[in-house]
Amino acid sequence: KRKIIIDTDPGIDDTYALVAAFSYEGFDVLGITVVAGNVGLENCVNNALGIVNLMNADCRVYPGATASLVGLENAKTYNIESSVHGAGGLGTVTLTPDPTKRSDTHAVDFILETVKENPGEVEIITLGPLTNIALAIRKDRETMKKVKKIWSMGGGVRLGNRTPVAEFNYWADPEAAKEVYELIGEDVEINMIGLDVTQSTRMTLDDLFFLETECGNLGSLLSEMSNHYKKMYWEVLRFTGVIVHDLVAVMLAIDPSLSDEDDVYKQVNLQMECEGICKGQTVVQFSPSDDEPRNANVYMGIDNDNYRKAFFKLCFPESYS
Ligand code: BDR
Ligand code: CA
Repeated sequence: KRKIIIDTDPGIDDTYALVAAFSYEGFDVLGITVVAGNVGLENCVNNALGIVNLMNADCRVYPGATASLVGLENAKTYNIESSVHGAGGLGTVTLTPDPTKRSDTHAVDFILETVKENPGEVEIITLGPLTNIALAIRKDRETMKKVKKIWSMGGGVRLGNRTPVAEFNYWADPEAAKEVYELIGEDVEINMIGLDVTQSTRMTLDDLFFLETECGNLGSLLSEMSNHYKKMYWEVLRFTGVIVHDLVAVMLAIDPSLSDEDDVYKQVNLQMECEGICKGQTVVQFSPSDDEPRNANVYMGIDNDNYRKAFFKLCFPESYS
């Protein structure tokens, strides 16, 4: 089994992603590390504990950063995105946390200890701001160079959602994203799954109806929490259905062949803009010159139908044929 750590800020789409990761037998999820982002850290931790409980998952939840790198230095917390995910982070849904799964170990220490114990074997899937990963690099960069791969939902080459040029996760902590790509990107395979991929997918209203009516308690919970998301997508973007960004990243980590080879740009140069009106922008050079580090693989597309089918088959095999 592949050894996986998921770093997340649940979050409606994070919940779908965690459900998929826990459903996939090829993953040994060693732990869930939590970062503030969609909502404050405590809400995110509670939601993670609720998802672990719901899925009966045999892994613990490790609380991490309460704010971005710059925020931590200035003793500030995030401006929370509750308009997107609802006040508690899961729309109108409240899950029951399993408090026994909460660890006293800080997320950063858990990541470092786990990588030290399993050098070259641990893959990290990031579904929130990259603060925990950057803090781990600041604490012990040599150990973090021994991570096997990173799958990161964030950024966008041609698209933004938090601003016209910046995606939320990387916008929320651009310095962290910069340090991750610059300090370990040449040693560790970092796969960026950004808005270019996720915005090309859609969970349709029919999919949500199917979840609600045919997929048992788990399906109706996902559908119920998506109501909030659905309303936001309609009111803000005027489209029906929802984009489940973080799920796309997990489905690609499970099966990278969901993206056509032509849609994956390997060994490119990625730089982060951290200031001004372009704060949080990922600037990607697809054909780097000799002096530009090759520090990322960038996914640019996915087969939407295959992605949706793969999700339903994985998580609801009895309902979906
Ligand atoms: C990302 O931002 C958050 O709102 C989602 O959970 C996802 O990780 C998409 O931009
Ligand atoms: Ca997220």
